[in-house]
Amino acid sequence: MTDKTPAASNSMWGGRFADRPDAIMEEINASIGFDRRLAGQDIRGSQAHAAMLASVGIISADDLTAISQGLEEIGGEIERGEFVFRRDLEDIHMNIESRLREKIGDAAGRLHTARSRNDQVALDFRLWVKEQCAEAEAALSRLIEALLVQAEAGAETVMPGFTHLQVAQPVTWGHHMMAYVEMFARDRARFADARVRMDECPLGAAALAGTGFPIDRVQTADALGFARPTANSIDSVSARDFALEFLSAASICATHLSRLSEEIVIWASAQFNFITLSDKFTTGSSIMPQKKNPDAAELTRAKVGRIVGSLVTLMTVMKGLPLAYSKDMQEDKEPVFDAADALALALAAMTGMVADMQPNAPRLREAAAQGFSTATDLADWLVRELGMPFRDAHHVTGSLVKMAEDAGCDLADLSLADMQGVEARITDAVFDVLTVEASVRSRISYGGTSPERVVEAIAARRGI
Ligand code: ARG
Repeated sequence: MTDKTPAASNSMWGGRFADRPDAIMEEINASIGFDRRLAGQDIRGSQAHAAMLASVGIISADDLTAISQGLEEIGGEIERGEFVFRRDLEDIHMNIESRLREKIGDAAGRLHTARSRNDQVALDFRLWVKEQCAEAEAALSRLIEALLVQAEAGAETVMPGFTHLQVAQPVTWGHHMMAYVEMFARDRARFADARVRMDECPLGAAALAGTGFPIDRVQTADALGFARPTANSIDSVSARDFALEFLSAASICATHLSRLSEEIVIWASAQFNFITLSDKFTTGSSIMPQKKNPDAAELTRAKVGRIVGSLVTLMTVMKGLPLAYSKDMQEDKEPVFDAADALALALAAMTGMVADMQPNAPRLREAAAQGFSTATDLADWLVRELGMPFRDAHHVTGSLVKMAEDAGCDLADLSLADMQGVEARITDAVFDVLTVEASVRSRISYGGTSPERVVEAIAARRGI
């Protein structure tokens, strides 16, 4: 604090202020309650900045040593929970710098040369979001692995495939699991893409215009693990689309998680009884002793609400903001923190559920055979064996389905005579295509549900 700073004002910027902020001003202005989460990134950023300032001769080697050691000690204090965060110092940047001044005196004031909180916060947040992308990618890899294990074990397990949640055609459990593998692999790729685009270091943009000091932005970008410095100083402090991309990728991923969650909830119901969930990811009821509730799946299904909500929050904050930095942008962090936490938890819960769930193969097979699920196989047979146009075959099959429905039996239970009553050229051979096993075996087109295609798809994903 210089002599000219009124004791009652902020020691970091209070030079021109005679009065201290109103209590409400302090409350609305302070971000330390949440941005303390950026402490590690802030210290790393300051270390890289100080090293660069020394290497280009802006600060002395002695100052660098003092700053470096001081920052390291502060990092330790924060890790051990000893650091006292002060709301009157607003944010993590000023809390750390103020503590540094307490520790090393005047040299601390030189750290902020050629830097502003605008490029500092842009850097810290970008580092944090970039790490979260990598975390999400790793978590998705673990989920994909759990799905691959399920797919391998159930490559031949027949289950009903649905459209409109009505039985459509038999598929395999492995094929259904692999559908989610495709979705989550695209989610992983979205985080990876976003990470490449945000791999530019905004440090050195200073307040918005760059600086007259002879800084080396390539050096700081390198030291902080970025591919390069950002190209435009105004954009550097204004851009938050890296966070929007993270939230967009998170929202799509959470949407996929909610779809699988929904299926798990349905499958685990007594009416479906397609799967058994492990005790580890279910809860009991305090009143109904028989219950085993799929709470983890329900909560994972619900997390999409917070995550998409966070995307909408930040989109709305950023909309219409003039360049460059405005304090509105302080509102960027909480939604991103909340979404990142929710996503990490949802991915971990889903991975655990998928790894532990057990498909009920006899029940899946039974359900696959219901609802005239091999009607398409019958129509295809009429096309293949009798040379009928598909539309005519569809019509004949429809009549046979109606006949079976009226008789209360499956297609395979109709007699040959009944069938010939509708289409005289039908032969005994038709019964070979009416089983669910024959149906899935026949779907050999690339990407189809036949066990051999599913095994190939698994191998392709595993890179075998
Ligand atoms: N706490 C602020 C934020 O999160 C740091 C940047 C403040 N910059 C400023 N010009 N007041 O955005």
